[in-house]
Amino acid sequence: MWAALIIHSVSVSYAQSVWDAKTENLSKDNADIVVYRSPACGCCGKWLAHLNAHGFNVTDNVVDDVQGIKEQYGVTSSLSSCHTAIINGYVVEGHVPAGDIKAMLKSKDNIRGLAVPGMVAGTPGMEMGDRRSPFKVIAFDAGGQLKVYKNYIKY
Ligand code: CU
Ligand code: CU
Repeated sequence: MWAALIIHSVSVSYAQSVWDAKTENLSKDNADIVVYRSPACGCCGKWLAHLNAHGFNVTDNVVDDVQGIKEQYGVTSSLSSCHTAIINGYVVEGHVPAGDIKAMLKSKDNIRGLAVPGMVAGTPGMEMGDRRSPFKVIAFDAGGQLKVYKNYIKY
């Protein structure tokens, strides 16, 4: 069972983050995102705050079986991270930056979704001071094809 709650406002506790830079405005029909996360994860909450700060309406579902959700939405183990989100039929796995989600929604990419596998230091919600590890946002499609959507080497 999961409990749903909608976060209306989240205090921004990461004012120094490079991810605070303004991103494009969202159209109303692209704003609602549903997140599934485990109760044990703290960084998930910070990623939700990042989404909120960039104009998304977040529905937060704390679930016992995050793995079941991943299987349901075709997130393989090589793509998986701590949380899985759904927006307009797209899957967003892990600490994907808001700007990349917006870009995907805008260009209506023919993919299943975007993923930042694992838990990379420096990604939105995983800020650790000056530690910013390079990471890739991976686009995946229904057939299991993977493509680098964005490569963050320095940020
Ligand atoms: Cu995480
Ligand atoms: Cu998470």
